Formats: sequence, C-alpha cells, structure tokens
Amino acid sequence: MAHRAAGTAGFVGRARELDRLRSCYDAAAGGESQVVAVVGPPGIGKTALVERFVAGLGAVRLLRASCDEAGALLSYGAVAQLRRSAGPAGRDLSAAATDEPVTVGLRLLDVLDELQEAGPVVVVLDDAAWADPPSASAVAFALRRLVADRVLAVVTVHDESRLAGGLYRLARGHRGTVLRLAVPSLSCSAAPGRTGAPSCGSPAWTPTTCARSPADSAYRCGLARRSS
Ligand SMILES: Nc1ncnc2c1ncn2[C@@H]1O[C@H](COP(=O)(O)OP(=O)(O)O)[C@@H](O)[C@H]1O
Ligand SMILES: [Mg+2]
Repeated sequence: MAHRAAGTAGFVGRARELDRLRSCYDAAAGGESQVVAVVGPPGIGKTALVERFVAGLGAVRLLRASCDEAGALLSYGAVAQLRRSAGPAGRDLSAAATDEPVTVGLRLLDVLDELQEAGPVVVVLDDAAWADPPSASAVAFALRRLVADRVLAVVTVHDESRLAGGLYRLARGHRGTVLRLAVPSLSCSAAPGRTGAPSCGSPAWTPTTCARSPADSAYRCGLARRSS
C-alpha cells in the first residue's frame, strides 16, 4: 500500500547510510531485488534511519513489521503486521499457526507480485531478531525467490548473527548489503549535575533528549555536531 512515513522531524546526519540505502532502492527499482541488514546496538538509530529513508521515498508501497520479544512467541505475528500494512493487496496473506512457512511465503510472494505492478515495494522488518520463527522463515522463503523483482527488503538487527538463517544468508549474499551503524565520534563534555550524561549544547537536542542515557545522548550529540 502506498505509504508516507511520519515522525522523522529532527533527524540528523547519517548521509552515507541514507545514500547506501538509496542505492539499494535504486537497484531494486531497476528490477534487481535487494536485501539490506541495518546492524547496530540498541539505541544507535536503526529504526530512525529506516524511518527517515522511507519518508524520503515519498509515497511508496511499503510492507512493514516491527518485532519485539513478546511478539516472538506469536506464530506469524510479523506476517500479520505485514498483511495489515499491505492494505487491500494483503487480503490473501492469511497465516494460521498450522500453516507451513513455505505456504505463507508463497502467499507473500503473490502480494509482492501484485504490489510491484504499480512500482517498487519496500519490505521492512524492524528488530528482525525478534521475528517469530515461522514469519522469519516465510519472509526468507519469499525473498529468496525474488530475482528480477522490484523489491527492497530492509531488516534491522542488533547483531546479524541473531537473524534467522535464511535472512542472514540473504543479507550476506550477492544481492545483500550489511550496513553497520557506528556511533559518531564523540566530543561531548559531561553535563554538570547529570551523572555520566553528556551534553552537547546543540540546539538540536534539549536537556530532556540528552538525559535518556549516556550512550544514547553521546551518540545524539555526536550526530548533531557533525551535521551542524
Ligand atoms: N539520526 C538521528 N537523528 C535524530 N535522532 C535520532 C537519530 N538516530 C536515532 N535517533 C533517536 O535516538 C533514539 C534511538 O534511536 P532508534 O532508531 O530507536 O534506535 P534503534 O532502533 O537502533 O534501537 C530515538 O529516540 C531516535 O529518535
Ligand atoms: Mg529500533
């Protein structure tokens, strides 16, 4: 379904990563499907990067699922999210707990086929390490069968070895990209009266945003300084 992401105001930096995602999207749009794994520790900005990237695409056919620890126990929970995000095209993406991943993967392929008739499709699996195993298998099955398809899949994960086997191999394969997010160089000084929490003094970040955690705020300060 055509989608326009919201809520990326205030995003800074990551120009190189956005360029690489855009290159992968362009290759996929040209009929060479791509799988990108965005890798980095929690809080480094994986979700924000992907949101920003998707927002920059304008109206795009987007299937998305956001996975978490609780959802990992729910068979085909991630596929259900993909189905909901697909709009009317997702109507046939049913997945009962007893369905085989191959069966569900074939249904997902049908949805992707239908959607890409109208243009490139982006599939996002956020925090894919927490995808329930049947969903991860079904998605990997479908993505493996894409060749001359206008589909870009982006999975985020804190450690790619935690990806389900099929997704890991796709990300490491010839149509795959592993995009590691590094913490920007840090030049923040400790904020007076806030134990361990640095302050950058940048107008981009308020004391509230800088107070969440030392690692998070240091990362944010580094990004803000780079882009100013
Ligand atoms: N490039 C960025 N510009 C501004 N804020 C960012 C950026 N990257 C991350 N953030 C913010 O930092 C926090 C953590 O980012 P998030 O994308 O959730 O991390 P992850 O998905 O890696 O756990 C969020 O509040 C997010 O909005
Ligand atoms: Mg995230």
